[in-house]
Amino acid sequence: SFLVKVLLIPPLQLDCCCRSNSTLQVIAKTSLRCFEPEESSVMLLAHIEGRIPCPGHACYNNTGVVWYKKNRLVSIARESCVEDGELHLCTVYREDTGVFYCDRRITEQGVAWVFRRAVHVKVIPFTEANSPPVVKYPAANMTEEVELGQPHNLSCEVDFDFEVNISRKVEWFMNYGGDMDNMTLVDTERHEEVFFSDIKVTQTYTIKEVTPQHLKHAYTCLAGNTVGNNNVTIKLKEKEQVIIFSTIVDNKMNCLVGVPIRNLGIILHVKWVELQLIFRSRFQFGKDDEEKEFDVFVSYVWTGPSAEAVEMQSREEPIEMRLTRVLEDQWGYRVCLLERDILPGGAYTNDVVLTINRSRMLICVLSAKYFASSNAVFVLESGVKALLQNSALKMLLIWTRGTSASFIQPEPPLPKLVQRALKVLPSLQWSTDAPSTTARSFWISLQKAMPADGARPASRVQ
Ligand SMILES: *[C@@H]1O[C@H](CO)[C@@H](O)[C@H](O)[C@H]1NC(C)=O
Ligand SMILES: *[C@@H]1O[C@H](CO)[C@@H](O)[C@H](O)[C@H]1NC(C)=O
Ligand SMILES: *[C@@H]1O[C@H](CO)[C@@H](O)[C@H](O)[C@H]1NC(C)=O
Ligand SMILES: *[C@@H]1O[C@H](CO)[C@@H](O)[C@H](O)[C@H]1NC(C)=O
Ligand SMILES: *[C@@H]1O[C@H](CO)[C@@H](O)[C@H](O)[C@H]1NC(C)=O
Ligand SMILES: *[C@@H]1O[C@H](CO)[C@@H](O)[C@H](O)[C@H]1NC(C)=O
Ligand SMILES: *[C@@H]1O[C@H](CO)[C@@H](O)[C@H](O)[C@H]1NC(C)=O
Repeated sequence: SFLVKVLLIPPLQLDCCCRSNSTLQVIAKTSLRCFEPEESSVMLLAHIEGRIPCPGHACYNNTGVVWYKKNRLVSIARESCVEDGELHLCTVYREDTGVFYCDRRITEQGVAWVFRRAVHVKVIPFTEANSPPVVKYPAANMTEEVELGQPHNLSCEVDFDFEVNISRKVEWFMNYGGDMDNMTLVDTERHEEVFFSDIKVTQTYTIKEVTPQHLKHAYTCLAGNTVGNNNVTIKLKEKEQVIIFSTIVDNKMNCLVGVPIRNLGIILHVKWVELQLIFRSRFQFGKDDEEKEFDVFVSYVWTGPSAEAVEMQSREEPIEMRLTRVLEDQWGYRVCLLERDILPGGAYTNDVVLTINRSRMLICVLSAKYFASSNAVFVLESGVKALLQNSALKMLLIWTRGTSASFIQPEPPLPKLVQRALKVLPSLQWSTDAPSTTARSFWISLQKAMPADGARPASRVQ
């Protein structure tokens, strides 16, 4: 913001200023005669001729003005001429953007000076935008994938024409429930990348945590300039996750899912809820530092032997009874059965939620009767919800009597959350007519799935 006035000591050397035997005097801009701030910058249109006046044109003798750019004489570097102190470029190029200097020779009280002024030159493609903005991303009516519970950035990328007086604008609106007549402006962040003739604007709306509510709305990105507007509207949907289980987790998967996975990775296509259930139910070990009253809450429905079993005079103890006996008497776990251990009189739903909270693990013994009982399904659903709420609960499903996740279609249909959970929660299959080796492997798998430090002196698997 200072100007340099150079005193030349004779003999005069005017071809270049600032030789070693010169004196520099720096003077403040505002102390100049007829100082006009706007004179120190000029905009030139590219591809046509352009003129750069030397500031102070009206106040000084403009004979013999010399122009420099980056210490090079413009008259040597470039096709140009100087007319009455004004630099005249025959054709303006993008590269002409930069600082030009004009040197005047002046004489004050018999002393010769070179008086240097700077001009900031900006080369522009045109003065006004010729076309409305173009929204590059997102595409109209597209759906963007999001993960529930995670942050998400909605970005709108728009190309604008260059313009001198800035009119460009990009905004994000939220359309409640997809209603295009009920729009609210949301807070966004702007990022601009300037190229010669166009400007790329990225306007980002940050959702701190995606909730199911966000999936119900539509989002409109609106871009405009003096020429016109454009808009796109998009929706959000829950992302399908692709996870590849590597060999590291194979062992846990083997014993808990009961699917023999060797050293191969497997790819599962699952959604966010399923993904959370998979990770919480399998990998959240050692989180249950708080003391719980029960090791296992066993949930089952057993209303006596089926007519078939009676007819066949089956003396096989039902898995519901046998499971409790093994867990409690043989392995020494503190088992909770709702009808046995919880005092009657409370509200059922309340009792269930509290009991789940007081237990380290929930085992649901699934059967057609289980799915037909709304009370039993409520236990299962409450367990899934507790698991999703980041609780330290462990869950295990035991499928019995030919039931399995792919076959069940009970009436009334199960809650959606339960249907999804059934496919991914750790599970074991119990079969009465399986060979005894299968039965033994069932008990071994079960023992592995149990909280390790809960059992008092564990006796052998029967
Ligand atoms: C301007 O300066 C030149 C020499 O540098 C001189 O010949 C001329 O007379 C001056 N013009 C005026 C109006 O002072
Ligand atoms: C920019 O705006 C100023 C002030 O409103 C106006 O004088 C000028 O002509 C405008 N320039 C262009 C290129 O539109
Ligand atoms: C987007 O959807 C609206 C309303 O359904 C429709 O009018 C419009 O043509 C669609 N645009 C594109 C590019 O598919
Ligand atoms: C969202 O954008 C902000 C900056 O605008 C960045 O800091 C953050 O990491 C981005 N988040 C995601 C999930 O991409
Ligand atoms: C827009 O939606 C919000 C939220 O659902 C609602 O409170 C408001 O009344 C709606 N406004 C109009 C004009 O429909
Ligand atoms: C979005 O663009 C369409 C035409 O492409 C127009 O009918 C509609 O009014 C625009 N919406 C807004 C909010 O400007
Ligand atoms: C579960 O128990 C903990 C204490 O062990 C308590 O802080 C929490 O509020 C309980 N949650 C419910 C849903 O009862």
